[in-house]
Amino acid sequence: MQSIYLDNAATSFPKPAGVSDSMKRYLDCVGATINRSVYGRAQEAGLETLALREVLARLFHFPEPATHVVLTPGATFGLNLVIKGLLRPGDHCIVSGMEHNAVMRPLQQLGGVEFDRIPCDSEGFLQHGALEGLFRPNTRLFVLAHASNVCGSVQDAAAVGAACARHGCFFLLDGAQTAGHYPIDFAALRLSALAVPGHKGLLGPSGIGALLLTDELAASLTPLVAGGTGSASDSELLPPYLPDRLESGTPNLPGIYGLRAALAFVEQQGVERLRRHELALCERFLDGIAPLSGVRLCGTREPGRRVGVISVDLPGRDNAEAAFRLEQEFGILTRCGLHCAPAAHRSLGTFPQGTIRFSLGFANTEQDVDAAVAALRAISAG
Ligand SMILES: Cc1ncc(COP(=O)(O)O)c(C=O)c1O
Repeated sequence: MQSIYLDNAATSFPKPAGVSDSMKRYLDCVGATINRSVYGRAQEAGLETLALREVLARLFHFPEPATHVVLTPGATFGLNLVIKGLLRPGDHCIVSGMEHNAVMRPLQQLGGVEFDRIPCDSEGFLQHGALEGLFRPNTRLFVLAHASNVCGSVQDAAAVGAACARHGCFFLLDGAQTAGHYPIDFAALRLSALAVPGHKGLLGPSGIGALLLTDELAASLTPLVAGGTGSASDSELLPPYLPDRLESGTPNLPGIYGLRAALAFVEQQGVERLRRHELALCERFLDGIAPLSGVRLCGTREPGRRVGVISVDLPGRDNAEAAFRLEQEFGILTRCGLHCAPAAHRSLGTFPQGTIRFSLGFANTEQDVDAAVAALRAISAG
């Protein structure tokens, strides 16, 4: 039986042609690290790394210099860099009711920092009316999942950015489910920072991601990790400049080469075109399940306000067993449960049973969607 991969919100698969070749070329033919040695191959790796920062800056309309594109192991690391690097006892933070544990767990670890959640409706959208009342004089940071990894709802980040600007608080956008799937304009959204993983919609390997941040926020952060940077080696103190200050240790160069090749594909396709493809498949999926009385969509049908992350509940059935049958009988790979986002499931009314999540990617086809709908029809009727 052929398998149909519908778990792109966890990590994208397959990767575009060229990603593994580029990683292999690095491992077999380049091999050098950056910022340390000066021979030709080390310089080549340095230029590749700079080119990656530049393409990330271009993709997200980032107004700061490419030095402020900090390479991280993933979105989780970037979110922790800001949350733990910025907030101190007595500070206040605002989050949405749809956050991933990559935001909630670091926040819960911080003693003496209070936070409020903006309630979200049963389709996963912020209740914007609640927003203004949550800001306090000590509100330092607002963290928002741009799109939900549970139901795909995309938040009005521009409205949040404007509110943060009015109240003088930093705005950190978690782009884990939008980077590569939905346009992100750093300046227009008035972001202070954007955390993205390389392995989801940006189509690179796991273990590499980025944090793009303003100079003002960077100056307010205490680095979480300190170590060798290959720069200012006469000093036992971290250099004051970016990206070195936030990038201690030898970087993930195979990941850098892989992500750069993946972004060449993303840029050549264009995020708008990738989005149109995923949305067309998403609408086909939603139309397909609409007549199925045993399948409940958790989230919005509105295409303009979502990405291709689709959660369903099979009322009266065990979702985990249904997901198991999807794989065993139909070869369809999904993710079932709470998706590391218990708060989001509480907002959607799907806690603790969770949902079955189907998430689309650039390589999925209409046939994949039709097979998934047919399988849901069979399981929900059987
Ligand atoms: C909304 C959201 N934020 C953060 C993350 C963390 O990303 P990573 O595991 O790549 O660090 C994920 C991963 O699924 C996510 O969906």
